[in-house]
Amino acid sequence: MKVELLSGACGAEITGIDLRDISNDNIKIIKDLLFEHKVIFFRNQGITHQEQIDLSKCFGPIEKHAYVKGLPAYPEILRIVKEPFEKNNWGENWHSDVSYNPEPTLAVILKSVEIPPIGGDTMFANMELAWETLDEKIKNKVRDKKALHSSLGVAFFIDNYKGMEARDTNLGEYSNEHPIVRTHPETGKKILYVNWTYTKSIIGMDKKESDDLLTKIFKHQERLELTCRFKWTKNAVAIWDNRSVIHYAIADYFPNRGLEHRRIMDRIAVRGEKPF
Ligand SMILES: [Fe+2]
Repeated sequence: MKVELLSGACGAEITGIDLRDISNDNIKIIKDLLFEHKVIFFRNQGITHQEQIDLSKCFGPIEKHAYVKGLPAYPEILRIVKEPFEKNNWGENWHSDVSYNPEPTLAVILKSVEIPPIGGDTMFANMELAWETLDEKIKNKVRDKKALHSSLGVAFFIDNYKGMEARDTNLGEYSNEHPIVRTHPETGKKILYVNWTYTKSIIGMDKKESDDLLTKIFKHQERLELTCRFKWTKNAVAIWDNRSVIHYAIADYFPNRGLEHRRIMDRIAVRGEKPF
């Protein structure tokens, strides 16, 4: 096995591991790598839909997306499609997946199916490091506070993406409160758990103070020093610990730079626990 770090902050590309091997020993190795690096990448993984599902189940029960339909034959798999004429990527801008749910996603197993010749990389930022390096004065203000996370509603997930279909068009916007600093249940590490996309306010603060603090925290957590960037190739698999990182799918589809190409990713989410 070879482990190549993508940056000093997080992310490692792993070679010499077969993702079809879901023996306890192999899953233990994969989980240890995941907890150490927060996001791990494997290239040239010709795994089938069923093999991707079987691998995902080793991390916990599979979670369905509240708003978006899965593949007809494999409802566990949500296919993320950017059509050649589209300029947007699903998941552009910094976020942690479904942080608005009562029990947000634990991990995501994402496989590239079709990728543009250039553009469409994904960035990740290490939120354990973000908490460690956050200004002490800000830490003291938010240490025991909760924040409100909003789901933004079905249109947010569907309107800009012709290749994606709503599962439930009647489900409106909803929100949940989570601790701003959560604890990783496996490692005990403290994690900064807010994100620009879904976190709307700090509970128990007036709007101005909440807006000012969140603006500062977002700016800090998005610092490039906390990130890694992955350039996709076909049949690559990323596994990220959705509690410990935020991520950003870059929609850099400018004229003649990957714009007239399709980008397809198969995403499986593993259900998480209530943040504490
Ligand atoms: Fe995402």
